[in-house]
Amino acid sequence: MTWEEIDWTALDRLRARFLSGRTDGEPYWQSRADLASYDFTHGERIGWKWDHVLRELKLRGWRPESRAVLDWGCGSGIAARRAIAAFGPETFDLLTVWDHSPTACDFAAEAAQAKFPSLEVAQATRGLLDSDAPIGLLLVSHVLNELPPVALAELRELAARATEIIWVEPGTRDVSRQLGALREELHATFRVVAPCTHSNACPILAPGNERHWCHHFAPPPPEIFADSNWVKFGQRAGIDLRSLPYCFLALDRRANLPTPLDLSRVIGRPEHFKPYARVLSCDASGLAELELPKRADPSLFKQLERTKAPLVYRWQRDGDKLTGGEPLVTSTRET
Ligand SMILES: C[S@@+](CC[C@H](N)C(=O)[O-])C[C@H]1O[C@@H](n2cnc3c(N)ncnc32)[C@H](O)[C@@H]1O
Repeated sequence: MTWEEIDWTALDRLRARFLSGRTDGEPYWQSRADLASYDFTHGERIGWKWDHVLRELKLRGWRPESRAVLDWGCGSGIAARRAIAAFGPETFDLLTVWDHSPTACDFAAEAAQAKFPSLEVAQATRGLLDSDAPIGLLLVSHVLNELPPVALAELRELAARATEIIWVEPGTRDVSRQLGALREELHATFRVVAPCTHSNACPILAPGNERHWCHHFAPPPPEIFADSNWVKFGQRAGIDLRSLPYCFLALDRRANLPTPLDLSRVIGRPEHFKPYARVLSCDASGLAELELPKRADPSLFKQLERTKAPLVYRWQRDGDKLTGGEPLVTSTRET
C-alpha cells in the first residue's frame, strides 16, 4: 500500500462509522481495499499506541509465556503484528485471528503470514470460540465502543480462558472507565501487570474521582509532522496527529510474577507551570495530585516535560510534594 493507493472515500466512511458509536453488530468492512487503507492510516496510529504499551511491558520486565496468540476483533490485525514483532516471532507458534467480518479475518491472516512466514496463522472457528480450550495470549484492540452486550459477553468468556491479556483502547473517559470496570472483574483471577503498579481496587473508580480516567499518551514518530501525506490524512480525518491518547490493561494469570516495589504510574500528561509541575500519580497508596517545585529537582522537572517514555516513576515524596524521582529504566536505555 502507498499513499497514492489510499481509498480516501472508504476512509471517510469508516471514520464516520467509528465516530457514530453504533453497536448494531453489523460488519462494516466492505472490501480488502477498506482494510488496506485503514491499516496504512488509522491502523498505523493504533500501532504506535501498541508500540508504547509494549515498550512499557518490556520496561516492567514482562513478556508472555504463552506460545499461542488470539487477536479478537482483529480488523486488519495490527495489534497482533505489533505484539508478535515486539516479543519476537520465534516466541510464538500460532496466531489465530477473529473478527465478525470474514473480510477482516482474511486480511489480518494474510498480512500476518506475509510478515511472519514461519508462524502458523489461522482464523478462529465458531467451534474454537465456543469451546473451553485455553487461549494463551489474548489481544484486544479498539473494540469496546462498538460491541453490543452479547459480543461483550463472548469476549468476557474468552478472557476467562486466557493466560495473558493485552487490551488497548482509545483514551476517552467512557471507554477507559469501561475498561477499568473490566479490570475490577478480572483482577480476582489475574495479576495486573500494567498500567497499575499495584493490585488494589482501581482508585480512579472510587467515589470522589469521577473527573479522572486512566489514560496515557503515545508519541507518534516525529517525521510524520513533516510528511504532507500524514498532514493531509490528519486534516481530512479531523485528527490531531500530535495526540495519541489510549488506555490499556495487561493481565497475567501467573501467580509468581515479581511485584513492583514503590512504583507509581503517571495518569495523562504532566502539567507544567512556571514554578512547578503537577502530575496525577497512581500507586498502591491511591491516586494523588503531586506537585514538583522546579527548584526541588530541575532535571526531573525538565525530564517530565520532554520524555517520550512511559511515565513509570519511583518518587521521593513529602506528602503531596515531590522532592525527586527516577523513571523506571531498563538496561537498554529508555528515554
Ligand atoms: C475499530 S476496529 C479495530 C480493529 C483492530 N482491532 C485495530 O485495533 O485496529 C473494531 C473491530 O472490531 C470488530 N468487531 C465489531 N464487533 C465485533 C463482534 N461482535 N465480534 C467480532 N469482531 C467485532 C470490527 O469488525 C472491527 O474489525
